[in-house]
Amino acid sequence: MMQQWFSSAKFGIFMHWGIYAVNGISESWSFYRGEISLDDYMAQCAGFDASNYDPNAWAELFEAAGARYAVLTTKHHDGIALWDTQQNDASVVKRTPAARDLIAPYADAMRAHGIKVGLYYSHCDWVHPDFSPIPVKERGFANHNQTPYLDWPLGPKTEAWQRFLKFHRGQLTELATNYGEIDLFWFDGDWIPDNSYWNMIEVRDLLFKHQPTAINNSRLQGYGDYETPEQAIPVVAPAKPWEFCVTMNDHWGYVPSDTNYKSVRELIQILCECIGMGGNLLLDIGPRPDGTIPEEASVRLLAMGDWIKRHEAAIYPTKAGLPPGHLYGTSTMSQDETELFLFIFDKPFGEISLKGVRNQIKRASIVGTGEELTTRISGGAPWANIPGVMWLDMATATIDPLCTVIRLELDGKLDLYRGAGRAIEQN
Ligand code: GLC
Repeated sequence: MMQQWFSSAKFGIFMHWGIYAVNGISESWSFYRGEISLDDYMAQCAGFDASNYDPNAWAELFEAAGARYAVLTTKHHDGIALWDTQQNDASVVKRTPAARDLIAPYADAMRAHGIKVGLYYSHCDWVHPDFSPIPVKERGFANHNQTPYLDWPLGPKTEAWQRFLKFHRGQLTELATNYGEIDLFWFDGDWIPDNSYWNMIEVRDLLFKHQPTAINNSRLQGYGDYETPEQAIPVVAPAKPWEFCVTMNDHWGYVPSDTNYKSVRELIQILCECIGMGGNLLLDIGPRPDGTIPEEASVRLLAMGDWIKRHEAAIYPTKAGLPPGHLYGTSTMSQDETELFLFIFDKPFGEISLKGVRNQIKRASIVGTGEELTTRISGGAPWANIPGVMWLDMATATIDPLCTVIRLELDGKLDLYRGAGRAIEQN
């Protein structure tokens, strides 16, 4: 069920941690697409040791980054659970030198730092013998997404599928009962087969029974609480509550050959664009097999946190800002709509403009420094209650190289003009 904390959290950290970090290859998809054999993929188990796993250090880093929640992959499509599942032996506990439950220390550390606990879980389990009546090695890997149901020719009532559902419900019950209060279940891999197989309403009810306050993301065949656009940032806000998940480089897991990291500026812009449209950002990083977080990621998270701390007022307590057309940038506003926060990503030449705000401005200032800005109004049609363009003088203001934030204190609740203008009837 959706909870209030989610809309004020704004920023979460996603972690794809699994055996795929050993070779530094794509999580699960690498064997699925045939880039590596299943045997070679599974051989990575031998190198997954979690020898420097310090979830307390993770939590400290996330807190410093300004993140309010975290999501950890408890089991990806490759089926290797990060906990001691009793449903089969496909776990890091039974198959890797890590040989212990990795979820409890994570959940404890996050809670101790006031970070909400999220668990990612993949419904689909590509290596489980009952997941598909055709074993993964025989059915081939190509075009799986383009050929739905190819792997399930026999329908949902087969014994194999019924066994799989028992396994699936069994694992979810473990996650929902062994780790205290879970704030968020982040599902993945519900695409195929369809809901006549999954019967996700039963999953939603099962989770609700054990974790009545947990939020479920969308990947539950329609029974989730919010939308999860991924990798491509929305241009228009999704209709339901939402969160944009995106990788910090181009991979979800640890792939050291992938150095295409987004810059801090880009990451801040993504965050601001998300919150400006009423969404959250779930930013993904991939820990190494030993549990440490790559420098490239931690350096960026710390820099984001620095900027976020200086601009907190414009972030956590706010909601979506102005619709498109008013400002060349994104914005947020206070819950009572008496304050606007404008995010300016580029370096202004002198003044910047804002259109369609009918309110008087009590005060305009730079959030990071408190410097006051002067404003002037140009044009407008007062006889038709159409406001002029407001120009804010940035000539002497301190420009933040990551993003400058302007606070506008209004004389009352935001009163926006959204019209198409009109001809003069009176002068
Ligand atoms: C996709 C991928 C998966 C990744 C997920 C994160 O659904 O299948 O590998 O974990 O996106 O959103």
